[in-house]
Amino acid sequence: MVVVGVAVLAYLLGSLSFAVIVSKAMRLDDPRSYGSGNPGATNVLRSGNKVAAILTLLLDALKGVVAVLLARALAPRFGFAETTIALAGVAAFLGHLYPVFFRFQGGKGVATAAGVLLALNGWVGLASLGTWLVVAFATRYSSLAALVTAVLAPLYTWLLIGDPQVVALVAVMSVLLVWRHRSNIAKLRAGTESKLGSKAK
Ligand code: G3P
Repeated sequence: MVVVGVAVLAYLLGSLSFAVIVSKAMRLDDPRSYGSGNPGATNVLRSGNKVAAILTLLLDALKGVVAVLLARALAPRFGFAETTIALAGVAAFLGHLYPVFFRFQGGKGVATAAGVLLALNGWVGLASLGTWLVVAFATRYSSLAALVTAVLAPLYTWLLIGDPQVVALVAVMSVLLVWRHRSNIAKLRAGTESKLGSKAK
């Protein structure tokens, strides 16, 4: 029962779409109305407001961190295994993708997944972050960086954590993340994907 409570709490936390919340608080346009229409840091950056984009990135990542740390803090008392802790992270990730507060129309999950991985295991988080940075700097495509990282994250989890159930949960996040990037994949293939830092038209 406590596990369900933690998962619901993590999902609700993940449902806070910070791209929309931060933009509203800073009196910027709703990110769902320009660029890719995605409520995420990359699209908020297209508004031209770097502070809003960084805040979105950090707060969306923090949701994943807090969900995992909350489950970890409760683990000794309720006997949660590492799988349960990872499950809390996945619940926050699902909240970001399908937020109950925003008609289930959420983002693509990159920042939240990064937060989950960092909190699950610092090395997995850093390897994933490093992968994202290398691809993003080399290609200037945020989406491509996320896709390459999503493919490699389960491998990093397997090498550095090893627990097959945690690897499976990270793989589930990766599959969903790739699925949410369908339009980006089409644009990358067509050569029409916008590069990092380019403003919304
Ligand atoms: O963080 C999401 C990113 O990978 C793609 O965002 O706005 O270009 O669809 P966007």
